[in-house]
This record gives sequence, structure tokens and C-alpha cells, in this order.
Amino acid sequence: MMKITKDMRYVGVNDYEIDLFEGQFVVPKGMAYNSYVILDEKTAVLDTVDIKFGTEWLDNVKKALEGRAPDYLIINHMEPDHSANVRNFVSSYPDVKVVGNFKTFVMLSEFFGEDFAVNKVVVKEGDCLSLGKHELTFVFAPMVHWPEVMVTYDKFDKALYSADAFGKFGASDADEAWDDEARRYYFGIVGKYGAQVEALFKKLSSFEIKAIYPLHGPLLSENISHYLDLYSKWASYTPEISGVMIAYTSVYGHTKEAAELLARELKENGVENVKVCDIARTDFAACIADAFRYNKIVLATTTYNGDIFPAMRKFIDDLTERNFKRRIVGLIENGSWAPMASRVMTERLGKCKELEFTENTVKIRSALNDESRVAIKALADELGK
Ligand code: FEO
Repeated sequence: MMKITKDMRYVGVNDYEIDLFEGQFVVPKGMAYNSYVILDEKTAVLDTVDIKFGTEWLDNVKKALEGRAPDYLIINHMEPDHSANVRNFVSSYPDVKVVGNFKTFVMLSEFFGEDFAVNKVVVKEGDCLSLGKHELTFVFAPMVHWPEVMVTYDKFDKALYSADAFGKFGASDADEAWDDEARRYYFGIVGKYGAQVEALFKKLSSFEIKAIYPLHGPLLSENISHYLDLYSKWASYTPEISGVMIAYTSVYGHTKEAAELLARELKENGVENVKVCDIARTDFAACIADAFRYNKIVLATTTYNGDIFPAMRKFIDDLTERNFKRRIVGLIENGSWAPMASRVMTERLGKCKELEFTENTVKIRSALNDESRVAIKALADELGK
């Protein structure tokens, strides 16, 4: 339990044992499940935590309440990493009012077999709840990251309880920069829903925000414009930096050699930001995040079973399902008898909007030769313009 402001306490927990967040994302520095208590004439608890931490969390809440009873439990998000302890909480405090929207209570019924009818307070978009001096406004944020998500704005503190938005991988004490792990989290989890994030930002444009309290990661109370700017770029699929990501797979090292040669040529052409990534050996979420970070990408892979190498197939699928767009794309294919990787990659990227393919595509027959080296140089020249 931690005192954050005069009236607000952090009652979240850290998960250092988790192997895969949401069953798929590696989180070497653990994960934080954030939860908050506001103390005013009335008291409110905002969201619960993962099921594994019920006892620790209830203990934190009890300490934060300083002997008072909670008046409200506000559910901003129903994904179980935040809602799993709703029943435990209501069992501990049977008189608490459970605040959510229509969809929240549908999901409560699905997860718990009941919608807590005795406790339930259903709010609509823009509804306010006064705790005393803290007046809370509920702003719906569908698909950021589930349909029932809402965020809660506290007018008194000018604080946004942002649900999954502005979250980050890593426990709350993880010693690491926010941007990289927040980007990996955003594009891994919310990346498909840029339009919905933008819609939320539009609704929030009239709110002055001095602090952001997300459901994961650190509490943000300084340099807020930095986080807002990054989110604005991510949501609109705007690249953060000018440069080239070279994403490759390589079976025997020849495609890797091509990727590395291209990187050298690009650097010689003055391209400062070049990232080479063996996507079969790198965390997929980190690769995806990098693809969205740079404004240009080169995909290099082999023909495989009449298709492309499996890791590249997955990578492209991961990009397309996250609405990868507005990038310049170059292709390098390698094939020993019937190269078709370029065609397959182009087809697989067909669902992506606003991609611009380079004029130069590199074809390698098994290993680099003079002809393919010249082609790589031409691609580097085109990308380095
Ligand atoms: Fe952290 Fe969408 O739950």
C-alpha cells in the first residue's frame, strides 16, 4: 500500500512469478496489477487484481481504507487480470456498490454466474459519481482493450484512471525505461485498436490531465505530454523514427548475411537508425513493436513448403492483424529451386493499407552472389533516399 496523493492510495500488487502475460507475452521483469483507493466523504476502490493476489490485495485495501468501509468498487475493465477478485471483494464488503456499465455486468454474469444485482450501479457514458470533493466521470473506451472498458477521470486531482491504456509490461519496481516496454505492451495487446484509442483521446480532449493511473506499470505524474504524444503516434500508426527495420529469418545463414549486408549498405548511405532482427530468435512482441517504430521495413525470408518460412508467416500475420500500415516495405527472398517468398509476402501483406513497396526487390538463389549483392546495394540506395 502506498500513499500517492493526500486522498489516493495505491493498492496494487506485483507478479514476479508469471511466465507469460495473457498466456503469450514474455515479461522478464514481471507484471504489475494496479488498483487504487480514493478516500473522500465516500470511498472508492478502482479495479481489483489477478486471482493469485486476492489476499495480498484485500490486505492492501483494508490498510488503505483506515478502518472505513468501501462505498464503491469501480470496475473499469473486466479482463480477469483486473476483475478476478470482484466476488472476493463483495464477499468481504457485502454493502459495497459495484459500479460498471451495461457490458461490465454482462461480463460479470459470464465470469461469476451472477451480476451482483444487490450491489450493482450501472453507469452510462459521461455519468458522474461524487465522492465528496472528488467527482468521477466515466468515459467509455470500447476496445481499449475489451468492449466494456471505461476510464475514470477524477476532476479534483485531474487524474485519469486509464484502464489498460498507458500500461506497460514489468512489475512496478522494474528498473527500465517506460517507452520500450510500453510500446511492446501497446502493440502486443491494443495495437489493432488504434481507431478506438483515437476515439477515446477525442473524448478526453476537453479534460485536463495531470496524472495517469493505468492498470499496469508505473503511475505517470510527470512529463505527461511525452506519454500522450507517444500514444497519439501509436494509435495513428505514425512511425516514431525515420529508419529501417530489417526483419529476417535464415535457415543456414545466407539470408542473415543478406540482411547484414543491407544494414551495412544503409549505414554507409547515412541511415542512422537501422535495426536488424532475427525474428525466429527474438521475442515476437519486441519485433512487432519495432516494426511499428520505424518508418521503413525490409522483410527477408526463404521460400518454404511452397510458402514462406513459418516465423515470417507468423510475423506478417501479427502485423496484419494489428493493422500495420503507412510504411515503406522492401523484400528480400531466398530460394534454392523455386523462389516465391516475395510473391507470398506481398500477398500476405495485401490486407495492410497504405503500404508502399520499394521498386527494388532482392532475389537470392541459395547464397549471395555478385548479382544479389548489387541488388542489395540498389535496395539500400532506394531506402536511403
Ligand atoms: Fe490488463 Fe486488458 O487487461
